[in-house]
Amino acid sequence: MPTPTTHIRNFCIIAHIDHGKSTLADQFLLKTGAVSARDIKAQTLDSMDLERERGITIRMHPVTIYHEQNGQKYELNLIDTPGHVDFNYEVSRSLAACEGAILLVDAFQGVQAQTVANAFLAIEANLTLIPTLNKIDLPHARPDFVIGEMEQALMIETDDVKRVSAKAGIGIEELLEAVVHKIPAPAGSPAEPLKALIYNSHFDTYKGVVVYIRMIDGSLKVGQRVKMMRAGREYVITDMGQFRPGMTKVDELAAGQVGYFTANIKNIDDVNIGDTVTDAFKPTAEPLTGYKEPKPMVYSGLYPVNNNDFEDLREALGKLKLNDSSFTFTPEVSDGLGFGFRCGFLGMLHREIIQQRLERESELNLVQTAPNVTFEIVKMGGEVIQVHGPQDVPDGGGIQEFREPIVKISFLIPASNIGDLMGMCTDRRGTFVRTEYLSTQRVILVYEMPLAEVIYDLYDKLKSVTHGYGTMDYEVIGYRAADLVKMDILVHGQKVDALSVVVHRSNAERRGRMILKKLREEIDRHLFEVSLQA
Ligand code: GTP
Repeated sequence: MPTPTTHIRNFCIIAHIDHGKSTLADQFLLKTGAVSARDIKAQTLDSMDLERERGITIRMHPVTIYHEQNGQKYELNLIDTPGHVDFNYEVSRSLAACEGAILLVDAFQGVQAQTVANAFLAIEANLTLIPTLNKIDLPHARPDFVIGEMEQALMIETDDVKRVSAKAGIGIEELLEAVVHKIPAPAGSPAEPLKALIYNSHFDTYKGVVVYIRMIDGSLKVGQRVKMMRAGREYVITDMGQFRPGMTKVDELAAGQVGYFTANIKNIDDVNIGDTVTDAFKPTAEPLTGYKEPKPMVYSGLYPVNNNDFEDLREALGKLKLNDSSFTFTPEVSDGLGFGFRCGFLGMLHREIIQQRLERESELNLVQTAPNVTFEIVKMGGEVIQVHGPQDVPDGGGIQEFREPIVKISFLIPASNIGDLMGMCTDRRGTFVRTEYLSTQRVILVYEMPLAEVIYDLYDKLKSVTHGYGTMDYEVIGYRAADLVKMDILVHGQKVDALSVVVHRSNAERRGRMILKKLREEIDRHLFEVSLQA
C-alpha cells in the first residue's frame, strides 16, 4: 500500500557549495536505518566517481527514507541538490518536486552567495524553509554571528534556526522532527486522474531511460498506459520503484510520493524534464507548468589530437549526452586542427567536468579551444542569428549589430574588499546595481556584466582578491549590443582559425598581446624565426 499523503514529506537540502548537504543526507540515511554504518561510504549519494573525487555534487540524487515519530511512520523523500552556479537549474528542478527545504549554512563561513540565491529560489517556489546551522562542532564556529547574518540576508526568525553537526551527528533527530512538523504534507489526491511531474531521468543500459517522477495526483501501476503530455508520446509502464537509496521495486506509487518508472524508452531525448505524465485513457485536465530549459552559454571546440580518433570522439560525446541533456555538440572543421566538435556547456565548471569525464571514460587525447559565449548578430537587413564560435562570425561589412549575453552577478565579500571588487568589475565593463550590508564585516555587491568577462578569469580573481572569502552567483538576464570585434591570429602570415577570438574593441589590443606572448613562449623552442600577428 502506498503511504497516505498525510504521512509523506517531500523536501530538499539547499546550501552554498561545501556547507555539508551530502554529509547531512548521509546522516539522515544512517539515523533512519536506510544504510548501515558499516555500508556507508563518505557521501553515499554522490555516486559518480568524479563527484566523489572532487567532493562536489553534480547530479541530484533522490532518496526515500522512513522516520518514526510519536508512534507514526513517515515517508520522507529527500532530494539532494548541487550547490555550484553552473548547476543552478538542477536546484530549480528539485524545488518543484518538494514542499519544503532545509537551508543549510556553515557555522564558520556564514551566509554565502549561493545561500542567498538558493533561498530566494525556494521562497519563490513557495517552499517552507527550515533554516539550519551546520558544523556547530567546529572549534572556530561562530553560531550567533552567522545566525545574525541569516536573519539579515534571508529575513528569518532567529529562534527558528536549528543547530546541527552533520559530521558528528548532533541535532539530527530534532531536524527530522522539524521536517515532519513544519513542512506541509503534499496536497494532491489519489482519487484524481494521474498527474506526475518528470523532474529528472538517467539512462540505464539494460532498462533504457529511468524516469524520475513526483506524483501529484492519482496512482501509477506496472502495465498502466501513460501519456507524456507535452511530448504527446504514450508508453506502457514496465517497472517502477523508489530510491531507498538503491532502486527498490514497488507495486504502486500514489499522490505525493516520489519514485521512478521505466517503460522501454530507448532515447533520453524522448523524455522531457518538466513534462507531465498522465493516464492515456483517463487524462488529467491541465498539464503542470514545467521548467525553463537550461541553455548552454559557453562554447568551445574539442578536437582529437589524432585525427583518426574523430569517430571515437563522436561516440564518446554521444554517450555523455545520454546522461546530460544540457550538453550539446555539433561537428566542425578547423584548418589547423582538422575535424572536431563545437560543444556547448552551462558554464566553465560544466566544461571542465565534461572534458575530464571524456578523458577518463574514453582514453582520448583532446585539444580544447578557448571558450566563448553565445553571441547574437543582427545582419544587414535585420536577420538575427546566434553565433557559437568566432569562425561563424560573418565578415565585418555584413554586421549591423553585435550583441552579447549580460548577467546579473552577486558577490558576497568581506567589507574590506569592496573597493578592490568595484575596481575589478569596472575593468570588466560592469555596471553597478547595489550594495547591501549583512553586518559591519560582510557585504553583498550586485553588478550587471557581460558573461564573456565572467567566464574569462573572474572567479579566480575574486578568490585571490578576497583571500578565498568571496563567493559569487550569477544568472543571464538578456542580450545587449556591444562594440565587439573578431580578432584573427596570424602565424607566419597565415590565419589560424582555431585561435580566433571575439573580444570587446577596447580589450582587443591587450588580449591580442597576451595571446601572442603565450604563443611566443610555446614556439620559442624552435630555432627558426616565426612571425606572429594579431
Ligand atoms: P557540494 O556537494 O560540493 O555542494 O558540497 P556539500 O554541501 O554536499 O558538502 P559536503 O557534504 O561534501 O561537505 C563539505 C565538507 O564539510 C566535507 O569535508 C565534510 O566532511 C565537511 N562537513 C560537513 N558537515 C560537517 C560538520 O557538521 N562538521 C564538520 N566539522 N565538517 C563537516
